[in-house]
Amino acid sequence: MAKRITEHSQPEALASAMAFLSGRRVGASSFNRRRALQGLMMGTAGLALPPLAMGQVEIPPGQIRLMFNENPYGPSPKALAEVAKILPKTAYYPGAIENDLMGLFMARHRLDREQLFLASGSNEGLQAAMMAFGKRGKVVSPALTYSDHLHYAEKLGVEVHRVPLRGDMAIDLEAIARAVDDSVSLVYLCNPNNPTGMAIDGDELRSFCREISPKTPILIDEAYNELTDKPEYTSMVDLVRGGSNILVTRTFSKIFGMAGLRVGYGMGHPDIVSVVKDNVMAWPNGVGLYAAYHSYLDEEFIAFSRKKVLQGREMVNATFRRHGIDPLPSQTSFVYADIQRDADVFKEKMAARNVKIRGIYGGYDTYSRVSMGRIEELEVFDRIFSEVYTS
Ligand SMILES: Cc1ncc(COP(=O)(O)O)c(C=O)c1O
Repeated sequence: MAKRITEHSQPEALASAMAFLSGRRVGASSFNRRRALQGLMMGTAGLALPPLAMGQVEIPPGQIRLMFNENPYGPSPKALAEVAKILPKTAYYPGAIENDLMGLFMARHRLDREQLFLASGSNEGLQAAMMAFGKRGKVVSPALTYSDHLHYAEKLGVEVHRVPLRGDMAIDLEAIARAVDDSVSLVYLCNPNNPTGMAIDGDELRSFCREISPKTPILIDEAYNELTDKPEYTSMVDLVRGGSNILVTRTFSKIFGMAGLRVGYGMGHPDIVSVVKDNVMAWPNGVGLYAAYHSYLDEEFIAFSRKKVLQGREMVNATFRRHGIDPLPSQTSFVYADIQRDADVFKEKMAARNVKIRGIYGGYDTYSRVSMGRIEELEVFDRIFSEVYTS
């Protein structure tokens, strides 16, 4: 049985844990984070706990993680400094920060409050929209796209009609338009698309939306908008401003590098927003909102992240091309390519060398997806990829 923490040691463990959470160092040596958190837990439960598996927030040493489209340069240092100040105050439910963050979105996108909602990651907003509209009819989506929320909704009885991509791997807007009839209650599009990384041309999508949205609401997932060549042109927020029957979702998980803090938001017609808000389940996470507020204002960090992602993308493209592989033209933080061999087998071989990439997804058996890591990690990726690919 583990030694029970004493009344004296408990405040010490608590102080250590708080120091960790606020990023401070304790004493002369670097602080042992895992110990402090374990101490904190033993102090409350008096149990011998297994070692913390912090996989979600701590990457095992030596692992290069290129499979979840995260931004390893985040979160913004300014946001982290601000979050450290707010942590001791988290006994209380979040209050004004929600309004403050909404105020930023309203100013930036020139929208009214009733055109906006917050969610625990954009995925929660997507799931809420799927459930709310999926109850009324079918959801139409591209066959190869981001689909966590689609699977969630299907498990709960929503019918999803998937429209194959075009031969060039682009989303087939014409076929989607043809699929929209009276039985359809929502169209889901991801722009740029995941996993292909390809963006639909802004004006093509605008005319699709003008034609279809009077019949059926359109949900456009813009998780990677800030990384596109022309973010404003590619976004459909202008249509939201104009009152179209559209919902656009955005996230703090990608360029802002806050995937672990779970903040997303939506912008849409007030009628759609109010339906989605009724179906969102989580209450906002105050620490996440606080970090989001300060990240949103940290233009230096946003520009830095974009530069690193674009630089990394060119490196990964170059790795593929050196081996005669033609990657799809990505406008995101990942690259998708036909590696002309079983993508799951290849993924396992890369994982055995401690480089994690994505394997088969959506039936595209020979396509791999590689997310951007730090530049030095992509240098290692280049070497390991070449060794595994040619072995
Ligand atoms: C296209 C797309 N939408 C939404 C999400 C979910 O992001 P969030 O962390 O905001 O829930 C992802 C995550 O990878 C994504 O790729």
